[in-house]
Amino acid sequence: MGATTESVRVDGDKLMQFVSRAVDEVGATLNAALVVMGDKLGLYRALAGSGGLSPAELAERTSTAERYVREWLNAQAAGGFVAYEPDSGHYTLPPEQTVALTDESSPAYLPGFFQIALGSVIDSPRIVEKARGGDGLGWHEHVHDVHEGCERFFRPGYNAHLVAEWLPALEDVVERLERGAVVADVGCGHGASTILMALAFPNSRFVGSDYHEGSIETARRRAEQAGVADRVSFQIAPAAGYSGSRYDLVTMFDCLHDMGDPVGAARHVRSTLKPDGTWMIVEPNAGDRVEDNLNPVGRAYYGFSTLLCTPASLSQEVGLALGAQAGEARIRDVVETGGFARFRRVAETPFNLVFEVRP
Ligand SMILES: C[S@@+](CC[C@H](N)C(=O)[O-])C[C@H]1O[C@@H](n2cnc3c(N)ncnc32)[C@H](O)[C@@H]1O
Repeated sequence: MGATTESVRVDGDKLMQFVSRAVDEVGATLNAALVVMGDKLGLYRALAGSGGLSPAELAERTSTAERYVREWLNAQAAGGFVAYEPDSGHYTLPPEQTVALTDESSPAYLPGFFQIALGSVIDSPRIVEKARGGDGLGWHEHVHDVHEGCERFFRPGYNAHLVAEWLPALEDVVERLERGAVVADVGCGHGASTILMALAFPNSRFVGSDYHEGSIETARRRAEQAGVADRVSFQIAPAAGYSGSRYDLVTMFDCLHDMGDPVGAARHVRSTLKPDGTWMIVEPNAGDRVEDNLNPVGRAYYGFSTLLCTPASLSQEVGLALGAQAGEARIRDVVETGGFARFRRVAETPFNLVFEVRP
């Protein structure tokens, strides 16, 4: 029988602490939409380095309506995203917020994180229905903010770590890439990782693949824009069926746990890799036990996992549903079942774990 307020002694102070924390959480929920609004309307970029603007000045610079901008600014000031100067009535973007909200080259860049969170929330009524019967919802079925937010969320971390730390942590891989290797980037989404590697290693060839047609179309455009289309090609293919063979390196960035059949994908990687090749798996950072992940990063990732990753896997054949917080032990189990003998963790950031897998 469930407890009632009559049968359980409730601590009034603790109840009020929880309620006031919840008020902050409601503000934070709405703030996901407000950050995306500020990003899309160019409000942060106009504030950055302006030395302080009134709502009317910010509206004028961004061709937006002053009344909306004033309300948005006050919400941002109440949340500490912008600073308010009562004497002048001006709003400023502090230097740290300027980096985090406007500098796409910084590993601390945040708008993509909010964009994928907002897209997930927008699609959440569909997840409520799926949760009744256990059906999945495919990655391809989500709103565009999920796909673009994903690219913009992960790219700053890949920019900071992939070429400088993760690839050098793998045995012999950088030397091969410099000489000229053939690389498959599986589940590549908009191709952020594929293009980054192609820019760093012009002697190598890269084949990005993803089952989502819309993502591959965007990836092709991005490769043209980056000037690497001569050495990068993209194909629409599931992880268990991409073409090509004798790859020196296969990479998977933040996608193995989204797949319905990661063991089937592992078997396909094994069959397309050279005997001395390497499979690099980048997965969300997580411990093996629930209690290891009860922290802010785990909270965000369990949230994404409920709304995006678990439904994505459940929408596909097998539907293993590893979840975004699968952790090292479950990933190891998948790759060993898929036929690989060697597995080691080679790098880690607050958001990612990086594994080297070899036949
Ligand atoms: C979280 S996104 C990561 C995308 C990209 N790797 C990145 O880091 O930006 C997961 C990707 O896995 C892809 N995906 C999911 N299941 C797949 C499968 N069975 N085969 C190939 N791609 C798959 C999705 O379409 C999506 O692009």
